[in-house]
This record gives sequence, C-alpha cells and structure tokens, in this order.
Amino acid sequence: MENVRKPIINSYLVLLSLCFCASFHHTAAKGGLFTSLRSDSLDDRYAGSGRHLFQEKQLSKEEHFRRLNKLAEGYMSNADLEKAIKAFNRRCNSISRIYSIGESVLGVPLWVIEISDKPGKDEPEPSFKYIGNVHGDEPVGRELLLLLANWLCDNYMKDPLASSFFLANLIVDNIHLHILPSLNPDGYQSRKRGNANDVDLNRDFPDQFFHMNDDLSMRQPETKAIMSWLTKIHFTASATLHGGALVANYPWDGSEDEKKHYYACPDDKTFRYMASVYSNSHHNMSRSKEFPGGITNGAQWYPIYGGMQDWNYIHGGCFELTLELSDDKWPHASEIPDLWEYNKMSMLNLVASLVKTGIHGRIFSSNQGRPLPASIAINGINYTIKAGDAFADYHRLLTPGDKYEVIATMPGYKSKSTSIVLGEEASTVDFILDPVVTASDDLLPRGCDCSYDSKKLKLLTGEQSKFLLIFVFISLFLCFLMKRRAILSFVRQKQGAGAGPKRPVGV
Ligand SMILES: *[C@@H]1O[C@H](CO)[C@@H](O)[C@H](O)[C@H]1NC(C)=O
Ligand SMILES: *[C@@H]1O[C@H](CO)[C@@H](O)[C@H](O)[C@H]1NC(C)=O
Ligand SMILES: [Zn+2]
Repeated sequence: MENVRKPIINSYLVLLSLCFCASFHHTAAKGGLFTSLRSDSLDDRYAGSGRHLFQEKQLSKEEHFRRLNKLAEGYMSNADLEKAIKAFNRRCNSISRIYSIGESVLGVPLWVIEISDKPGKDEPEPSFKYIGNVHGDEPVGRELLLLLANWLCDNYMKDPLASSFFLANLIVDNIHLHILPSLNPDGYQSRKRGNANDVDLNRDFPDQFFHMNDDLSMRQPETKAIMSWLTKIHFTASATLHGGALVANYPWDGSEDEKKHYYACPDDKTFRYMASVYSNSHHNMSRSKEFPGGITNGAQWYPIYGGMQDWNYIHGGCFELTLELSDDKWPHASEIPDLWEYNKMSMLNLVASLVKTGIHGRIFSSNQGRPLPASIAINGINYTIKAGDAFADYHRLLTPGDKYEVIATMPGYKSKSTSIVLGEEASTVDFILDPVVTASDDLLPRGCDCSYDSKKLKLLTGEQSKFLLIFVFISLFLCFLMKRRAILSFVRQKQGAGAGPKRPVGV
C-alpha cells in the first residue's frame, strides 16, 4: 500500500490490474483495484508460467468484454441517458432545469438535473448532490438517479393523502437537489472503471496527505468539472453511487500512515448518523455481516488517496458519503427495478435529512440587518462551514439528541455563540452580529462608497499606516461633502425608525 503515492508504481498497478481484470470476482467500488490485487487474484494468478498467463488473460479479457456488453443490454447508453435527461426536463420543467458542468475526455457533456420549486434560483436553502457512475463499470447509479428524478416529479403536488406527497414536497420545496447521473460516460462506453485516459476518477482529487495529484495539468476534465462545480454551488451534503459492495462509506477514506484502521474525521459522529440514515432506510444494508449497521469508515475498510469524498469535506464544505449499492457491480438490467425499490427510501431520506435534522439559520449585521456570510463552528468539532454569500444562510448537519454550542464568526464583527439542545427535529438559530467598533468605523458614513479594506490596514505599519489614515480622512471628508444630503437624510431616518433587523432572530 505504500505504493499509492508513487505515480509510476501506481500506473504499473493499473496496467497489471487491467491485464487481470477478467479475474476480478471480489470487487470493491471505491478501491477495487488494490483490494483485488491484495486478496484473491495476486497469489493465484502469479503461479502459472508467463506464456500461459498471457494466453489466459487475452482470452479472458475478450470474454470479460463480451460478458459486459451483454450485461449492458437493458441499460441506457450514453445517448439514451442524454435523451432521458432532456425528456425529464421537458416533462417536469416547472421543477427542474438541466445544465452541463463540462465534458468528458471524449467530449460527452456531463449533464446535471437540478430539482427544486425554484430551479436555478438562489434561495436560503441547502443544496444536495448525487453523482452516479464515477466508475465506468458501475452503472447502477445512473439508472437509479433517473428513477429518483422521475419519482420526485411524479409525486410532487400530486396526492396529498399519500405519504410520498409529503416527502416529495419537502425535498422539492426546501432543497435544491442536483443530480449528475454519469460522471464517467467514456468509462461506461468502454465498460471499464477509469475514464478514457484510464484514470480512476476517485483517485484524481487533491489529497490531504500525499501530493500525487497536485499537478493541475495532469488532472482529468471530469475531475476538474467537479472541482469547479463546487466553487459555483455550495453543497451542504452529497453522495456518490458505486457498486461492488453493500455499505455506506464515510470519511476519512485515507489514513495518514497508509494503514488500514479507523481514521475519524472531525464530524465522525455526524457522518455515522448520515450513513445510518441511508443504511437503515435500505432494504437490507443495515443487516450486513461484513459491516456492522451497514456503514463503514473508509480507512477502516481500506484506505484510498485522492478520493472525491474526503476532498468534498475538506475543500467543498460538503458532507459526502460513498454509497456501495450492490455486491455485483454490473447486475443484469432486470434487477434494476428491485435495486430501485431497495434504495428508494434511502435516497429520499438522505436528501430530506438536510432539512429534517441539523441546525439552520441566517446571520445578520446589527447594522441595518444586512446578511453576513459568516463562519459557523461547533465547540469541540474542528470544522467550520460558511454561510451562503447571498442570503447568509447556513445548514449545519449534526447528530440529533445532543447539546451543541454554535459559534458565528465574521471578520470585522464580534463573534457570538449560543448553546442548543438539538432534538429529533431541525432547529433554527439566527445570529445578529455587532460590528467591531473602531474610530474609523464610526466615521464611515453608510451611503458613501469610499470604503477601505481593514485587513490591508492591519498589514501596514508605522509610517505607511499614518499616510493611509491621513488619506482615508481626506477621502472621507471629500466624500462627506459630496454626499452630505444623503448622509443627513440617512441619519434622520435612522433616528426615526430605530433601524432594527428585519427578521426575528434567536441570538
Ligand atoms: C440483501 O438482499 C439481496 C436481495 O434480496 C440479497 O441478494 C443479499 O444477499 C442481501 N444482503 C444482505 C446483507 O442481507
Ligand atoms: C484543526 O484542523 C486543522 C486542519 O483543518 C489542523 O491543522 C489543526 O491542527 C486542527 N486543530 C486541532 C486542535 O485539532
Ligand atoms: Zn466505484
């Protein structure tokens, strides 16, 4: 396993595993490659003579693809998938929009369906994403995600007496759900794990411990598409759908010492809760003999590096699970309806948990009630999330039934904290933060755009800051002269109205 960070040895392993792919009976989605080499295949397959091996692998490779091509019958081709996505959008256009986050190596658009009562609009609501088919030879997710989208459309605003009505409306009205059915259409097309460049996309992200993926020029277009997607949309949580096992896997996926053992992330408890929401709603995931409760810490199962899950949590502020949906990576298409029934409630409940649990709220300035995109931390958990830029809404997933101290921090404002006992339901905690008052803040009139960056000022010292201060005062004075009327009327208004925040707030 110490080979993981060495690209050359790594690609050697990839080659080796490609040659032996026909012998992959024991498959594991997030790292089948190394597990397979480590377990049954290595010892058995190295026993024969080189020549014998060569013939065997040629034959079995052909056999392997013949089998996979046959299995693909009944699954959507990439063209079918695109058609299905567009047809969905036409049928359900009041609650959906479609967009592409980029293209695969071979130029296939990476289509996303967004489902919401206000698709494409920024709202003070959490966003969730589902990604399927990260590994080309794990196609169940792409089918289930289309079924999920259609289920929401079929049940939204339909029969108020049906229990499905409540769940569909809860999700569509309160969450922005983004669905990327296939991240790896090229891999799917050639029935293989990696993309068209044979890169495993779930090993292509920057890693917290090792630097094998730091070279931007080597990064695959599919990986880049995900990374830039996360700079545009602030996802609260997500899940990727894999195959090859039956378990809900949570961070960390990699351990610092590269050994196989439990390696907890700061939100370990929250992640175990989220993973359990999935496994407990599933047909039989929680009855797993291999994984207690049907959930596992990634590094305890087997460590991987450069995975999407850990990157999401570290860099995207997004709580991501890796869901393994069936022992068989590529089951016969006739099994899809059953797999959908087994996973339906899990997929819905995981999304719904974003608003059914956790602590939510908004942060305002005591000055006129302006929304502040502050940071939210929980005492004792070394992880912060950031509120949204437009509405300053935050959505902090946490295990129910515990007491938490929530801390809101914003540069230029005094931090505030409050304690809350989180029950089984979601709680709302809003914050009003007071500006840190300095001499210059007092003088800064509101209607004037001659502001300065207080952070920059701190970096300057001595003479420099003296000059800057003089400059600021002169500018303020000029500004005051120009905008005297506006300022005076603002002051009058403020005295009259009391200028409190517009929304009732908790803290
Ligand atoms: C779950 O159910 C499926 C289908 O009924 C079965 O094939 C599988 O072995 C079961 N797994 C567990 C862990 O019970
Ligand atoms: C908190 O996490 C950061 C990395 O995100 C780490 O550098 C730091 O040492 C951690 N602090 C504590 C007290 O564990
Ligand atoms: Zn996989």
